[in-house]
Amino acid sequence: MAEARKLYIKTYGCQMNVYDSERMAEALGASGYEVTDAPEQADMILLNTCHIREKAAEKVYSELGRLKPLKAANPDLRIGVAGCVAQAEGEEIMRRQPLVDLVVGPQTYHRLPAMEAAVRAGERAVDTEFPQEDKFEHLPRTPRTRRAPVAFLTVQEGCDKFCAFCVVPYTRGAEVSRPVERVLREARDLVERGVREITLLGQNVNAYHGAGAGGTWGLARLIREMARIDGLERIRFTTSHPNDMEDELIAAHGDEPKLMPYLHLPVQSGSDRILKAMNRKHTAEQYLRLVERLRAARPDLLLSGDFIVGFPGEAEADFEATMALVREVGYGQAFSFKYSARPGTPAAERAGVPDEVAAERLQRLQALLTEQQRAVQQGMVGREVSVLFEKPGRLPGQMVGKSEYLHAVHVADPLAVPGRIARVRITQSGPNSLGGVMAT
Ligand code: 5AD
Ligand code: SF4
Repeated sequence: MAEARKLYIKTYGCQMNVYDSERMAEALGASGYEVTDAPEQADMILLNTCHIREKAAEKVYSELGRLKPLKAANPDLRIGVAGCVAQAEGEEIMRRQPLVDLVVGPQTYHRLPAMEAAVRAGERAVDTEFPQEDKFEHLPRTPRTRRAPVAFLTVQEGCDKFCAFCVVPYTRGAEVSRPVERVLREARDLVERGVREITLLGQNVNAYHGAGAGGTWGLARLIREMARIDGLERIRFTTSHPNDMEDELIAAHGDEPKLMPYLHLPVQSGSDRILKAMNRKHTAEQYLRLVERLRAARPDLLLSGDFIVGFPGEAEADFEATMALVREVGYGQAFSFKYSARPGTPAAERAGVPDEVAAERLQRLQALLTEQQRAVQQGMVGREVSVLFEKPGRLPGQMVGKSEYLHAVHVADPLAVPGRIARVRITQSGPNSLGGVMAT
């Protein structure tokens, strides 16, 4: 048999792109490709891109520029762009960067084998449709390319919310939920391969409404059914919108032991005026009450969030309202960004805040969020947590895993092996991770 062709995939952006990259590797695996870590050995390079903020797309174009010498050294090399920049830019990518052979959007990558054959034959191929068929049903069920005790599983894709700043409704399309049985089948497959923790993914994951026995199932019901799978020990989900946080899901945080006490619940701003301009369809007060109900159900719940500063029209008082909300909630982790106008979104038409003002606000917000994150981590010292070990850490003999609160925890102990869940006593807190010893 001919030697396998080599595929190199570089993934940008969110966890769904990580999941998609694995599926693309499997789809091309069926065409005889093997994944490599070395781009210079590849016969096919795919950049799986993110379009959420300006710099992300620019990074893709500069990365493509850097691939030029590889293409010069190997005329058989084929280069493809996948993901949300591919969806948004389409053929424009080929005009701007002639060395690109293939452009495929997030909803059509199950067609990669046919596209690959076309580009091998010397054609250029573009597919950014939103097809009728379910791509997941057209992907091979070959062994996973990555073997780890943790895995992502896409259950929902797309978004109908149309926040005024966001490209996702345009790049990923309308909200679609995968049917219950297919999700459960994939979860069982993963567990058979040694996976002990699954993170359910969706741009609006808590709006999940999949066809299941007896009608439509919400996310809480899906989680409870999944929790019945023997060998699956931990369930997480991301990303949620505050308006879709239903009672049953809040309750599940209180009484479903396999559901981990960590929730990513973006609010974006603490100012009602800005929330309205963002089309978030809730107030700061409603968000705070929701957080209260979640913490009533699960007092140790660790919250994480996303924030945008410098949204068009944001005055100092609006920004102060965001700071006040952050102080009131107390986040364990958070991601904050300077607003960037995305072409085609409603907010892109509005006059922005001066860049130096936005930059200064971002600094203040990040200082506060970092302080909160450090305090939460410091508060873990002396406590016992449960850690699912994943892989070797930086230092020899060390393993790293995640606690139930999603903190990275390093432990040096022969009993710390990948796939094992153990009680660990936290002894130290570093900038981005914790250290501990096995608790006996
Ligand atoms: N500018 C800055 N941040 C953005 N996000 C989404 N769109 C933009 C934008 N145009 C942030 C939001 C979202 C996260 C994934 O990225 O905070 O929750
Ligand atoms: Fe974008 Fe808003 Fe949808 Fe999140 S909920 S993907 S921020 S439009």
